Amino acid sequence: MQPFDMVLFGGTGDLVMRKLLPALYRQHQDGLLPPAGRLLCLGRTQHDDASYLATAEKNARQYLGAAFRDADWAEFARRISYLRLDAQNTEHYPLLAGKLNEQPNHVRVFYLATAPNLFANICQSLAAVGLNKDGARVVLEKPLGHDLASSQLINTEVGQFFEESQIYRIDHYLGKEAVQNLLALRFGNTFFEPLWRREWIRDVQITVTEQVGVEGRGDFYDKAGALRDMIQNHLLQLLCIIAMEPPASIDPDAVRDEKLKILRALRPFTPHEVATKTVRGQYRAGASGGKPVVGYLEEPGIGHNSHTETFVALKAEIDTWRWAGVPFYLRTGKRMQERLAEIVINFREVPHSIFGRPAGVQTGNRLVIQLQPEESVKMHLLAKEPGDRMKLRPVFLDLDFDDAFKTRRPDAYERLLTDVIRGRLTLFMRRDELDAAWRWVEPILDAWEASEDAPKPYTAGTWGPAASSALLSRDGYCWHEEG
Ligand code: BG6
Repeated sequence: MQPFDMVLFGGTGDLVMRKLLPALYRQHQDGLLPPAGRLLCLGRTQHDDASYLATAEKNARQYLGAAFRDADWAEFARRISYLRLDAQNTEHYPLLAGKLNEQPNHVRVFYLATAPNLFANICQSLAAVGLNKDGARVVLEKPLGHDLASSQLINTEVGQFFEESQIYRIDHYLGKEAVQNLLALRFGNTFFEPLWRREWIRDVQITVTEQVGVEGRGDFYDKAGALRDMIQNHLLQLLCIIAMEPPASIDPDAVRDEKLKILRALRPFTPHEVATKTVRGQYRAGASGGKPVVGYLEEPGIGHNSHTETFVALKAEIDTWRWAGVPFYLRTGKRMQERLAEIVINFREVPHSIFGRPAGVQTGNRLVIQLQPEESVKMHLLAKEPGDRMKLRPVFLDLDFDDAFKTRRPDAYERLLTDVIRGRLTLFMRRDELDAAWRWVEPILDAWEASEDAPKPYTAGTWGPAASSALLSRDGYCWHEEG
């Protein structure tokens, strides 16, 4: 890996403290960062290096737990310096340029861990002092817009100063080991591909649920909601990886071209379909992890009559030869029964059963790929129960990745940060992907906004509103945990 300078805008913020510095520390600890790699943290707060490092250390200790080692941190901390800089003040940028020009051969990465309304200003100011040149890279964090128009505006503004090949749009789900493993499973093995189509697959379910509530981010969340926060990015990216055609290579554009085709083939919702094929919910007081919790409307920062959804379930359809007629059910929510990220592929029943159909048993094969909290792949099969009768029972072929590899699974940000330094764009979203995702999501947002109906209430600590089960039962199916 080349020597680098990584500049972290928003250096005193949550993301840098909780995710980015701990991730870089782990990479350092594993010997994956070149010795000549500097981290320059920027913020408006008055700090010298020592006081900034003291705060960073306190946070890192808390978030890294047992992985925090004093000696390793002391060595890692030598890479870090703090610069007081007001991102909106152009006069502060020559100072930054001066620091970076000390090392003209370093790869330059600008990580914008700030509110997106600062992106344009920052990029313009960087360009004004020549820092957008020589292969510099800019990393953009979500939310990238609030709708198609605002997302396009951000991309156009940033695009005036950085080429598309310099822009790394983060969707941290793509950095998860488990998500990359989906690519490995699908395209590193032969036996899935012939079955991976409408002839054999009945439906696909993608679930990403959390036990946490809005975690003190009420102000942000109330303007966003689950559709923007999770479906528009993370769940659609998962859907793309499951549904896309085999790319010709792992090169960034080969993969991103195939994902884009899926996003463009998603059937748009009419307002009537939004009413029948989507469910939005909002949690009420209940229990999470055995403790009582308040309802969404009682959370700090939330408007009393808020219609913001904390849960979404929907039925997506992909208009291609491979997927015509196969529903993709997507579901996400906060304050749900479990923290779970999983993809369930339900295969069709055998065309003719010579054994009769055992009552109350799911007889079609099912592939369950769990991404969180554990990483595993389970194939549900029917096998004969030992004994003198031909009685079939479901059994599993079960692969647990911890058992299989017995090594640490790096956090999503670790992988993504090193990919930026290496200049690998495959796991980052291209502008046209983002546009296509917004284009598909927007009619849902519009229809919800035009509707006077409030989101369906659900008790915290459950699997969401009853309408979510009804969405599938109308098609004769049920969510994985229900059957
Ligand atoms: C973020 C959302 O993108 O993803 C959060 O803004 C959500 O609301 C988080 O909690 C979930 O990520 P993970 O990695 O914990 O599943």
